[in-house]
Amino acid sequence: MATNTLAKPPAQTCILVTGGAGFIGSHTVVELLNAGYSVVVLDDLSNSSAESLARVRQICDLPETGPGSERLQFVQASILDRDALDTTFAAHDISGIIHFAGFKAVGESVQKPWEYYWNNVAGTLVLVDVARQHGVKSIVFSSSATVYGDPDQVPITEMAEKHDATNPYGQTKSMLERILSDLYVGDPEWNVVLLRYFNPIGAHESGLIGEDPKGIPNNLVPYVAKVAVGKLPEVGVFGQDYPTPDGTGVRDYIHVVDLARGHVAAIDWMAGRVGTGCADDPYSLPGDAAPDGSRRGVGVFNLGTGRGSSVLDVVHAFERACGKEIPYVMKPRRAGDIAENYASCDKARTELGWVAEYDLDRMCEDSWRWQSNNPDGYAS
Ligand code: NAD
Ligand code: UD1
Repeated sequence: MATNTLAKPPAQTCILVTGGAGFIGSHTVVELLNAGYSVVVLDDLSNSSAESLARVRQICDLPETGPGSERLQFVQASILDRDALDTTFAAHDISGIIHFAGFKAVGESVQKPWEYYWNNVAGTLVLVDVARQHGVKSIVFSSSATVYGDPDQVPITEMAEKHDATNPYGQTKSMLERILSDLYVGDPEWNVVLLRYFNPIGAHESGLIGEDPKGIPNNLVPYVAKVAVGKLPEVGVFGQDYPTPDGTGVRDYIHVVDLARGHVAAIDWMAGRVGTGCADDPYSLPGDAAPDGSRRGVGVFNLGTGRGSSVLDVVHAFERACGKEIPYVMKPRRAGDIAENYASCDKARTELGWVAEYDLDRMCEDSWRWQSNNPDGYAS
């Protein structure tokens, strides 16, 4: 069996981060660099700006040129571009992949299903094919709590039944979980981590990087932030008759920096530096430990805080953060929404040694710092 390419110290390890110029990707690149890794970002900038990576350099004190600059490299290309991927793997000694690249707007995916299946599913197939040709068989994949659909109970554990997604975006996540798990079944040299994110919000505490949605935001916190900064008049609260304490939808909001650190923990897990291999979880397929002590198999982890917050909790936390009243109006329920979800985080704590540190107030403070310093995002 080939050596696990991740089983060496971070200072000798280069991670390919697809979609690394985006919201979660840019924060993860910061945490990887802080942990000592080198990073190659591959992003086609279809939903991001290279400015985010210039800001990452600033946060991590990495020069643009000269010694140390090479710890962060950027390739502007699509994961669908086989030649560009081939050149990237040939040029860099890549040990593992964190795969964020993909389209993510739920509503748009209903209008443009082909684009979503092509970019997210076909793109991932091309990526893993080129990676394996270069002997790289370790991948962390951005999945979503959307794979649970409307949960039978909360908190949701990784063993909860998956439900059919109501939209093509959610389908791509379920399909890719399956595809990546099957890769390991067919070739036990693969090392796969599926991270099911709950609702990532917040921004780096520097206020230099954050979420920069194009057009009118679909998600709650970016929308509230635009209202707070005066770009939109009021927040629409979708539904006030859910069976929740205040009648509005409850979600598990997680600070993007905590989420980013969860990816570093997932790399440590694959390398065999933490955890034992989740032998009791039917949604994980633990492989044999490799001779070098590293881990193989498929690990499935929720990344959330374990706490649910309602829409009104979020609006009020944001009011505290920005020191202003946020106008809101009650609207009908949004199609496809569920009443409540929040994560059980026990497995990530015991296996990855990871817990979310930041609370909702801190998430909103950091979102507000980013939004108020950059009212037009990276175009500011
Ligand atoms: P984002 O849009 O900010 O980041 C995605 C990045 O991928 C962007 O920089 C975009 O330019 C790039 N990209 C898209 N298609 C590409 C392609 N074919 N080739 C190369 N680059 C491409 O989104 P995000 O919020 O940072 O999400 C990152 C990942 O996490 C996505 O896979 C998303 O589905 C998943 N996810 C996000 C959330 C969330 O709430 N933000 C929740 C669950 C899962
Ligand atoms: C949504 C997606 C989910 C995706 C995630 C991250 C849907 C149905 N789900 O999750 O698949 O993984 O984003 O991209 O789109 N809300 C308002 N007013 C708003 C916006 C939202 O009241 O203007 C409410 C929603 O009804 C929900 C909560 O705020 O109760 C959170 O919504 P949102 O931020 O869009 O995330 P999810 O719907 O949980």
